[in-house]
Amino acid sequence: MTRQELVNVLLKRASGKPGTRGEAFAPANIALCKYWGKRDAELNLPVNSSLSISLGKLGTKTVIKFSKTADKIFLNGKPAPKAFAARLSAYLDLFRNEGQFFEVRTKNNIPTAAGLASSASGFAALVKALDQLLGWGFNPRELSMLARIGSGSASRSLYEGFAVWHAGQRADGMDSYAEALNREWPSLRIGILEVSKARKKTGSTEGMNRTSETSELYESWPKQAECDFDELRTAIAAEDFPMLGKTAENNALAMHSTMLAAWPPLCYWKPQSIALMQKVWAAREAGIELYFTMDAGPNLKLLFLKEDQAAVKALFPKVQVVNPWI
Ligand code: PMV
Repeated sequence: MTRQELVNVLLKRASGKPGTRGEAFAPANIALCKYWGKRDAELNLPVNSSLSISLGKLGTKTVIKFSKTADKIFLNGKPAPKAFAARLSAYLDLFRNEGQFFEVRTKNNIPTAAGLASSASGFAALVKALDQLLGWGFNPRELSMLARIGSGSASRSLYEGFAVWHAGQRADGMDSYAEALNREWPSLRIGILEVSKARKKTGSTEGMNRTSETSELYESWPKQAECDFDELRTAIAAEDFPMLGKTAENNALAMHSTMLAAWPPLCYWKPQSIALMQKVWAAREAGIELYFTMDAGPNLKLLFLKEDQAAVKALFPKVQVVNPWI
C-alpha cells in the first residue's frame, strides 16, 4: 500500500466541509520507550510500540490557509529553508486537489532538528490545522495515523501527557495509531539539557535504516523495547519513579548501543553529552533520583520528581525544567 492509498482510505471517512483557515498547537514529545526501526518504510510502520510524554507548552503552532499560486511556507516568521519547505509540500501533496496550494506558517518554541522532536510536534500541529481547514472532522486516532506518515513520532504528539503508539500488525497500518494513556503524574518533571542546536547530520530515518541493516545488536532491540514498553506502563500505573527512570534510561542507552554497533558507526553524542551522562550517574550514586533519556541527537532530557528540582537545578544550572501537565 502507498501513503496516497492510505490517505485516500482515511479521507473517505471525512465528514465536514472545508473552511478558510486552520490553526493548531501540538506539543513536542519525548519517548521513554523509543521507536527505532520501521517494519514498513512507505507507511512509517514501526517495528516496536513506543511510549512518550509530551512537553506541555513546548511544541509547534501552525496556521494554514489556501494560497492562490504556489505553496508558501514560513518557519518561525521567515520563509522556510528549502529542505523543510520541500518536505512539507510533499506531505501536502497527499491532500491537495489539483491546482490547490497552501500557505503554512509554523512556529516552534523548541530548537528544530536537534533531537528535541520538533518534527513530531510539527506534523501533529499540521494535521490538526489541516483537519480544521479541510473540515475532515477526524478523531485523534485518525489524525495520529496521518501525522505518522509525516514523521513516526508525530503520531504521539496529538496528545498531552503520556501517549502510546501501537506498532500494530496489519500491512495497511490501520492498527498503528497513538492514543493517550490518560494518566497524570503531577510531580513528574522533564529537564532539557541542550548540548547543541546544530542540525543533525544523519536524520532518524537514515539512522534507523543503517542500524537495522548493519548492526548485529539490532536483533535484540525489538525484544527489549517490548519489555520496556510493558515495564513503563506498569511504572506509570503504580507511580513507581525509580522503575520509570531506570527503564527509560536503559531503553535510550540500548537504542544508542545498536547505533554504535552499526556500520559506518552512528554516534549522535558529543563529548559534553557523555560528561552530562556521567554527572547524572554520579548524582544518582549520591542519592538523587535522577535519570535521563536521549533521542537521535546530543541533548539530554532529565527525568526527576518535583521534590528534587532544587537539587537538579543546583547540579545543572542551565537546565530548562518542563512541567508536562501545564
Ligand atoms: O519520528 P522520527 O522519524 O523523527 O523518529 C524518532 C526517533 C526517536 O526520536 C529517536 C525515537 C522516538 O520514539 O521519538
